[in-house]
Amino acid sequence: MKVAFFDSGIGGLSVLHHALKVLPQEEFIFFADEDHVPYGTKSREEVLRFVDEAFEFLIGQGVGAIVVACNTATSVAVKEMREKYSLPIIGMEPALKLALDLFPQKKVLVTATAITITGEKILNLIEKLHAENLTELKALPRLVEFAERQEFNSAAVENYLRGELADYDFEKFSALVLGCTHFNYFKDTLRKVLPPHVKILDGNAGTINELIRRTNLQPSLIPFPVSLAPAFLQPSLIPFPVSLAPAFFYSKRRVTDSAELLRLEKFLKRLDEMEAIK
Ligand code: DGL
Repeated sequence: MKVAFFDSGIGGLSVLHHALKVLPQEEFIFFADEDHVPYGTKSREEVLRFVDEAFEFLIGQGVGAIVVACNTATSVAVKEMREKYSLPIIGMEPALKLALDLFPQKKVLVTATAITITGEKILNLIEKLHAENLTELKALPRLVEFAERQEFNSAAVENYLRGELADYDFEKFSALVLGCTHFNYFKDTLRKVLPPHVKILDGNAGTINELIRRTNLQPSLIPFPVSLAPAFLQPSLIPFPVSLAPAFFYSKRRVTDSAELLRLEKFLKRLDEMEAIK
């Protein structure tokens, strides 16, 4: 089954990166809406329209399931897309439940885009988990811009994070949740800025587990080595058989240009480096 991963930009590659490791034999399409990124600072109506257009295109590509590898798009549009289409649609959920299961007594800082932290979806999740007193929400919109221009660990990134996180008393917190898929590129700087006891959690494994559950795809018994993930751009370099390299699209344009494929490879390599940081 062909599975699409959809994001406003390259944040969703972090979810695809995990899928490539767990499901190396599957056929994937990756759609980054580069014409409209960032979503997080736009109106909900605009985002809904962008997601609707992307879904129409992806359905036309014959996909059997769509992973909305974007917390913002999930927050705004997943309900509407599920009403409109009958194929499995898997959304992102910030790993708040995981954080509270691991550390039930301490607070969790959920970082995301402005749309996500003001949306009903996150508020419903907090209510469902009875976590009103244990959850704080923080928008970090500039991380999306930094990620898109591949500025991962500059002084500007560090200063931005230090400034935005300066007011939290982290003694009271157990975890920082990455509630935006673009934030996965900054785990090293976050690790530098946060006290060591504050864990950095993302929702990627949870999303892929949900994809497997909903589609009956068979996870590989031997996980694909993470360090080889960029080689998916050139499957001939992979030392054992995998089905196909993912097809990458920027908005509705297939990415074939070698400079752009190199850009994507750089993101995948960065994700390899970030994978081990918790
Ligand atoms: N990657 C997205 C998310 O997970 C959205 C970032 C943006 O476009 O603002 O929320």
